[in-house]
Amino acid sequence: MDKKKTGRGHFTGSLGFVMAAAGSAIGLGNLWKFPYVAGISGGGLFIVFYLIFALVLGIPIMLSEMAVGRKTQLNAIGAFRSIDKKWSFVGVLEIACAFIILSYYSVVGGWVMKYIGSYLTGANVSDGAAFDTFVSSPVQPVIWHLLFMAVTVVVVIGGVQKGIETCSKWLLPLLFVLLIGVVVRSVTLPGSMEGLKFLFVPDTALLSDPKALIDSIVLAMGQVFFSLSLGLGIAITYGSYLKKDTNITKDTCTVVGLDTLMALLAGMAIMPAVFSFGMEPTGGPGLIFKTLPAVFDSMPLGRFFGLAFFFLVFIAALTSAIALLEVVTSFFIDTFHWRRRTATLVMGGLMALIGVFASLSMGPLSGFTIGGMNLFDAMGFLTDKILMPLAALATCLFVGHVWGVGKVTEEVERCGKRFAIRRVYGFLIRWVAPTLIAVIFVMGLIGG
Ligand code: PHE
Repeated sequence: MDKKKTGRGHFTGSLGFVMAAAGSAIGLGNLWKFPYVAGISGGGLFIVFYLIFALVLGIPIMLSEMAVGRKTQLNAIGAFRSIDKKWSFVGVLEIACAFIILSYYSVVGGWVMKYIGSYLTGANVSDGAAFDTFVSSPVQPVIWHLLFMAVTVVVVIGGVQKGIETCSKWLLPLLFVLLIGVVVRSVTLPGSMEGLKFLFVPDTALLSDPKALIDSIVLAMGQVFFSLSLGLGIAITYGSYLKKDTNITKDTCTVVGLDTLMALLAGMAIMPAVFSFGMEPTGGPGLIFKTLPAVFDSMPLGRFFGLAFFFLVFIAALTSAIALLEVVTSFFIDTFHWRRRTATLVMGGLMALIGVFASLSMGPLSGFTIGGMNLFDAMGFLTDKILMPLAALATCLFVGHVWGVGKVTEEVERCGKRFAIRRVYGFLIRWVAPTLIAVIFVMGLIGG
């Protein structure tokens, strides 16, 4: 056991850990999904649902993952295996899921880098059709994807402290500063109130439309889930690099709080500007790569704010990518005693290779489909709708009913503070969270 632990890194303390964990959670979901989904599915009401689920679903699950990680001081598979061999499959699901996600996430990361490049060289960025041409072309997006993966690999080779922690500690505050700058610009534009209303005014019509209400609630659950990157072994892996005296309850709340704050700020940065220029609100890649560049181009100092915005998107994507790669890498370091450099290069290389196909599936290889989806979309469906919920469901059942709330309490109380919410936590992790995840899972499959 001890031998296994040698060569593992550790965070210098709570701050580095919180920054890295928040960095893993804050990503494209906060930026391109939350503002739009919140706006069209209930505004202020959606936000209330979101906050409730962040409390009853987000905090207990993330805390559980952290407790498992810190207790075992092992990667996701090793952590489950060391407690109960039969449950190793949960770790396998998680690591497989992280592997698949990074393979296509990196493709999107590449698009972001390409936009930064375009802003820096003064190229035209506001032509929506050019984005479609770029994404479906055979060479350019592949090169940018490989570049994004290379940056991720370099950080992870740097190790837990010198790579991940240092990078997160610098970049995350920078991300906040940049975002707040863009928020200020956005809400001071004429007509920006409409955007804030879109986001924050509760859509009371929902209350008399049961179907829309349920949709909004399920969407809010799914968004909490995806936004906190639950069910991927990230909090287990990062938690395994924590020293025993840190207060993981407090750290969990901080991470969930930062992620939520970031989603709200992203909404306030994006929607007021979109409305101010009379554009249709959208979500997903279309919002970031088509609508926003056009919006930035039409505002004073737009090139500057556009560049700042894409740089912050890059930071958000990079810190998530680092976490995904670390989840996979740490398994090979712990289990096969590979050197960090070897594990990172081999696994990053494999993901890069798969990502090449994901990128090409939007162009030259679009004829190859799985269940009617191209490879890129199919990978997203498999991870978001199937693997993540299943792994998180299994994590709740494992922690709540096999490892036990008593063991979590022991781990949480190592910092010397009582686990005051123990009973509530126990109820949530044993019964509420599994039920809600099952609902997300079924609704996600039905909804396609
Ligand atoms: N949590 C990230 C976000 O909100 C998305 C993500 C999910 C990143 C899974 C990595 C893994 O964008």
